[in-house]
Amino acid sequence: MENFEILLGEYRNYFLDPSGSNLKEFLHYSNKMLTKVLQMYTKRDVKVKISYVGERTAEISIHDKTDSSTIKKKIFDAAFEMPENGHSLDELVDTLGDLLQSEVCFNTKFLGQMHPHDSIPSFVAGITAKFLNGNTVAEEVSRVTTYLEKQAVGWLAEACGYNPDLTWLEDIKLEGKIKEVLDKMIELPSSSGNITCGGTTANFAALLVARNKAFMEDIYWRKEGVAEAGLTKKEDCVVFGSEYSHYSIEKLCGYAGIGSKKFIKVNTTDKKVDARDTRPGSLKQMMWQAAKEGKKVVGVVAVAGTTETGNIDDLEGIANLLDEFENEFEYRPHFHVDAAHGGGFVFHDLYSPKKNGLLKGINRADSITVDPHKMLYTHYNAGCILFKNKQDHYLLKQTADYLFKNDGSCNLGQFRVEGSMGLEGAIQTWASLFCLGKKGYQTILQHVLDLTEYLEGKIKATTCFEVLHKREMNILCFRYYNPEFSEEVNNEINKEAQKRMYDTGKAYISNENQLHTIAGEKKKIEVFRAIPMHPWTKREDIDFAFEEVNNAICSTLSDREKYFQRSIASIKNGGA
Ligand SMILES: Cc1ncc(COP(=O)(O)O)c(C=O)c1O
Repeated sequence: MENFEILLGEYRNYFLDPSGSNLKEFLHYSNKMLTKVLQMYTKRDVKVKISYVGERTAEISIHDKTDSSTIKKKIFDAAFEMPENGHSLDELVDTLGDLLQSEVCFNTKFLGQMHPHDSIPSFVAGITAKFLNGNTVAEEVSRVTTYLEKQAVGWLAEACGYNPDLTWLEDIKLEGKIKEVLDKMIELPSSSGNITCGGTTANFAALLVARNKAFMEDIYWRKEGVAEAGLTKKEDCVVFGSEYSHYSIEKLCGYAGIGSKKFIKVNTTDKKVDARDTRPGSLKQMMWQAAKEGKKVVGVVAVAGTTETGNIDDLEGIANLLDEFENEFEYRPHFHVDAAHGGGFVFHDLYSPKKNGLLKGINRADSITVDPHKMLYTHYNAGCILFKNKQDHYLLKQTADYLFKNDGSCNLGQFRVEGSMGLEGAIQTWASLFCLGKKGYQTILQHVLDLTEYLEGKIKATTCFEVLHKREMNILCFRYYNPEFSEEVNNEINKEAQKRMYDTGKAYISNENQLHTIAGEKKKIEVFRAIPMHPWTKREDIDFAFEEVNNAICSTLSDREKYFQRSIASIKNGGA
């Protein structure tokens, strides 16, 4: 087996090291790419040369200490009203450059959100996309990127266990064995999908398709579906999903005309929807009850990597439950998996559905959301919706004579929620998959999983912090907890400490008010949520960030010294 550290060193170099060790390479590839694209555009012999000189002058932190009102005042002073005559480019660079000095740096000590960091392939692809400013709405204005998108979506579909759509390759001239293989593959019923501007619009596409499928008979009777006719009947319909679903699902059920109140959150066990559970409030009990009451079950939305704790619903079990439901009620609700965060893990052996990993069953879903701008490390904006069955994707079809000509061209805008979209999402996704490959993702993801495990070990070694859930991905929620204080006081301390930590700006772990089961009772509590993500984050950064948590808790407690003396002593002694 190859040495993990060697592999990590190799693949980590696809990301800019915030301490500057590979800054030269970063500039080299950015220059090279810009040179190529400017040459193509201007037909001149261009040579872009952005270089750097100098040493690091300050410690790395996630932001400087400028407070929010000072930032607002600076923006106000720079331009209160829209300028009458405009400013020079020099003034722009000076003003904007100064203002942005206080912006957040998503570096190795930023451990609090699922935020992609410093990918060089994505950056290099992204600057060219910015420059070219094409539009993936129609092939006419993105004759290359349209197919880069088709290919990247196919790669993701395949990793999720779907048959990739290869029909776009039908007209290329191939010979021999490779042609035979391709022809065979093209004949298989294929999946489809597209890049979106994020997980929210990907989920929206899935819910619209679920809704259109649920009222399919309308198409038969009136030659038009619910998308054209609207929800005209008094349809009483419901969508089910985890109580830990992303907030977009409830919102989008409203936007799709299903009704946000008709999104029914079911109970979970250890933060996961358990398909075998039949107790009141479970998925099975709620689905069967709804169907018996005559409600139409439009769909079930499972989460593969919850936003809060990264836990994965029982995907295989839910797929089986839908089989059972279909046998009994003679229709099959749409099964969507929201893997906006967890989708990237399909490239890791421990998770791969093809290797019976933790995401097994994802291939049985009708649609899947994967956000490249999360665990596939592209820059924003890049989401992706995949449909197992191409026919489902076609339910989103919209024509427009001026744009979508019937000449065999591939017009992605016809089948998506978004209209115009820059090339970034597609090119960045393609470039990241192209450079890192399966092994690159396996390596980088293993690294962030190791860091999460390391943090868990540190927390568990103390007596004043507790881990709040089973670790399944690179998300870990924990809190400071003193049993001598009320829940309210513990909450207050965690919340205040996080604010102090953020203001200090040296490291970042987010703070959230989350639903947890505490002593058998479901309650909202204040927690720290760590998400190690940066490929250059090391154990020392985790040590540093956890030390910052400790410092913030200590300073919070010491401001209430007379009440909390004992607790401070315990933390200072390493919580022992
Ligand atoms: C599980 C899940 N679904 C959907 C989304 C929404 O994604 P986006 O912010 O890209 O719209 C998120 C974002 O955190 C998420 O965690």
